[in-house]
Amino acid sequence: MKWRITALVILSFLLGGLVAMAILPGGRERLFSGLPSTGKALVGGPFSLLDHTGRRVTDKDFRGRYMLVYFGFTYCPDVCPSGLQVISAALQKLEAKADRITPLFVTVDPERDTPAQLAEYVKSFHPRLVGLTGTSQEVDAAAKAYRVYYKKVQDEKSTAGYTFDHTSIIYLMDPNGTYVTHFSHTTSVDTLAERLAKVL
Ligand code: NI
Repeated sequence: MKWRITALVILSFLLGGLVAMAILPGGRERLFSGLPSTGKALVGGPFSLLDHTGRRVTDKDFRGRYMLVYFGFTYCPDVCPSGLQVISAALQKLEAKADRITPLFVTVDPERDTPAQLAEYVKSFHPRLVGLTGTSQEVDAAAKAYRVYYKKVQDEKSTAGYTFDHTSIIYLMDPNGTYVTHFSHTTSVDTLAERLAKVL
C-alpha cells in the first residue's frame, strides 16, 4: 500500500536522523549536553547468519572490508529492489575502488528467504552482493544490532498472505565493523558513489 511505503520512508529518515544524532559526537552533545561522548557506535555488532550459498558467516568474516548493510526481503515489491539497485549501480560506478566494499542484504523474512531463494535473488543485482538469512532468532538479533525495525503484517494481495513493514536504511560500516554513516534507498546513485569514494 502506498501510504505504508510513504510512512516507512519517513520513519526511516527519522530513525536515521536519530541514529546520526546519537552517534555523531556533535549530535550526541546536543542531545545529551553534559554527558561525556564515548564515541561508541550504537549501530552494528555481532551476527551469525547463513549466506546465499548456505555457508555460516559472522560479522568477523567481513573484517578488513567495508560493509554496506541493508535489511529487507526478496518478496518486497519496490523499496528493497530500489535500495539494492542504488547500491549495485553505485558500486559499479566506483569500479575497482568498490572491491573494498562488500554489499550485504539481510532478510527479515527467513521463512521464505532460504539460501536458495536468496541465491536466485542476488543474481539480479551486484555480482558480489551477499544474501544473508538464518533462524528467526538469528535474523532478529542482527536486526536489533542494526536498530532495524520490521514487522510481519497481513497482505491479502500476497500469495503467502503476509508482507513485511521494515525500515529502509543502508548502513556503511568500516573495516573494523564500526558504523561510518548511513543512506536511504532514495539516495541517488551519484551521491552514494561520491560519498563512498570519499570514505575509501
Ligand atoms: Ni523492502
